Amino acid sequence: MSTLIDGKALAAKLRGELKEKVAEFKRTKGEIGLAVVLVGEDPASQVYVRNKIKACEEVGIRSYSYHLPAETSQSDVEALIDELVVSEKIDGILVQLPLPKHLDERKILRRIPHTKDVDGFCAENVGNLAMNRETIVACTPFGVMKMLEAYGIDPKGKSAVVLGRSNIVGKPMAMLLVNADATVTVCHSKTQNLKEVCAAADILVVAIGKAKFVTADMVKEGAVVIDVGMDRDENGKLCGDVDFENVKDKASYITPVPGGVGPMTITMLLYNTYIAASRR
Ligand code: GUN
Repeated sequence: MSTLIDGKALAAKLRGELKEKVAEFKRTKGEIGLAVVLVGEDPASQVYVRNKIKACEEVGIRSYSYHLPAETSQSDVEALIDELVVSEKIDGILVQLPLPKHLDERKILRRIPHTKDVDGFCAENVGNLAMNRETIVACTPFGVMKMLEAYGIDPKGKSAVVLGRSNIVGKPMAMLLVNADATVTVCHSKTQNLKEVCAAADILVVAIGKAKFVTADMVKEGAVVIDVGMDRDENGKLCGDVDFENVKDKASYITPVPGGVGPMTITMLLYNTYIAASRR
């Protein structure tokens, strides 16, 4: 039987600690502000943004919400970002992705300076991460590292496999694990012998967005399994990229969905906003 990595409980603990730090910051240096920009009506994005704003309130960070219509022009989105960049009230700028198709995401994100890039997406922050220097780290992989740390799982010398190579999760996750002295393999849709590669992992991080993709035969006995997925099963029920019911008895540690990585992602966004304010 495996140990459940309780992301919800860990997130609550970290948010409690952060709330005290934010209160102390406010006493001496003033408010901390996060701007959240949502363009369009994507239902999942609306839920994520709502949760982010609620979490800000919980720890005492002031949120500034900008919900723009789906047909907003490139220049109007850029003009808003430019305003937020110079605003002294704003420590962090988050543009919820994906953006509507007619918008040039890269051009928009490039207007956010690395000091306010609380998502850790920009080239400067990613470059610093690659060089193992102080930086702002993308929230989801950062949250995964915090989970490993909280449960006393040291990646040093371990074989870690990351399933997925996105800029938001897979790539920064791999860099964090390398920086923590793991031996890292990154798998993706073109990987050969995927099952064997996964089954050799001491730590398996799964972020491919396919419901219950990782089955028990892909997991080594005693492996640590981290599920970044947020999918729906055949009955429309929320589930992860890992076939939890069948994998849980094989793993030594496993994250559930929901209640695993999800709450940690938002917590690290709050943490990154606090850090950005501290470096003002
Ligand atoms: N869309 C899905 N995940 C994320 C994230 O971590 N940050 C932003 N800005 N958009 C997302």
